[in-house]
Amino acid sequence: MTITATMRTTFREQGFVVVPGVLTEEQLATGRALVAVELEKSPPEPGHVGFHFVWPRFEDGPHPLLDFYRETVAPLAAELVRPELGVDDPDFAQVATTIPSWSHRPGAPHVDGVASLQEDGSPYTFSVLAGVWLSDQLGEYQGNLHVWPGTHLRFGEYLAEHGADALAELNKDTTGAPYPKIELGEQIQTFGTAGSVLFAHYLLGHNIGGNTGPDRRETIYYRLQAHGHGDRWRDVMADPLSEFRAG
Ligand SMILES: [Fe+2]
Repeated sequence: MTITATMRTTFREQGFVVVPGVLTEEQLATGRALVAVELEKSPPEPGHVGFHFVWPRFEDGPHPLLDFYRETVAPLAAELVRPELGVDDPDFAQVATTIPSWSHRPGAPHVDGVASLQEDGSPYTFSVLAGVWLSDQLGEYQGNLHVWPGTHLRFGEYLAEHGADALAELNKDTTGAPYPKIELGEQIQTFGTAGSVLFAHYLLGHNIGGNTGPDRRETIYYRLQAHGHGDRWRDVMADPLSEFRAG
C-alpha cells in the first residue's frame, strides 16, 4: 500500500485520511494478539463498557508494538511527511478499545497533549496521529473516531494569530475537551475496514465515539513527530502543513 497524491491532498484539506487495506491478514492477527497481551496486563474492570486504554512505552528496549509500527505504519508515514525531515520512531503506543454497548456522541472536539504540560510549560505536540484499525468501522457508532474536518487549518490560523503558546493555555480548560473557540463545522465519523490506517493531523479536532455494535473496537495509535519537531513546534503550530509533503 502507498499514500497517493489524492490521499495527501485529502489529508492537507480535511486534516485526516484513511488508507485502506494496509495490513495483511497475518499482520491483522499479529496486531490483535498484541492488543490481547496488553489487555491481559491491564484489563478493564469486569462489566465495564466504554473506552479502555493501555499506554505501553518503548523506553526499555525492544517492544513488539514498536516492531509492529515499523512494519505497518512507518513506510506510509514516510510518504506523508516531507522526506527531508523523516519521521522519528514513537516513544509509546496507545491501545484504544471501546467496549460495547456504549451509547455516546461527543459534544465537542479536543486536542491531545495539553491536559498535562512538559516541565518547561510547553504542550506535548506531535505531527500526526496514526491509528491502526484492527476492527471494522463500517457503520456508525462502532467505536469510530469522530473528527471535525478542516479544523487543523483553522486552529493553525488561530495559533498564528494568538501565538503558539495559546496551545498551552488550553491546559486551563476544564470542560474535558480542550479546544479553542474556532469555527468547528460539522463532526463526522471515520469509516473503513479492519486493516486500514488512519492519519490525523495533530491539530485536527477529534474525539472518541460510542460503540453500539456487537464487537469491541480495537485501534493501536501511535503519535508521530517529524524529525526535529520538538525544536520547531511553535512554527509548526502556526503553519500546520509545513511538515507534510505537498503533492
Ligand atoms: Fe485525542
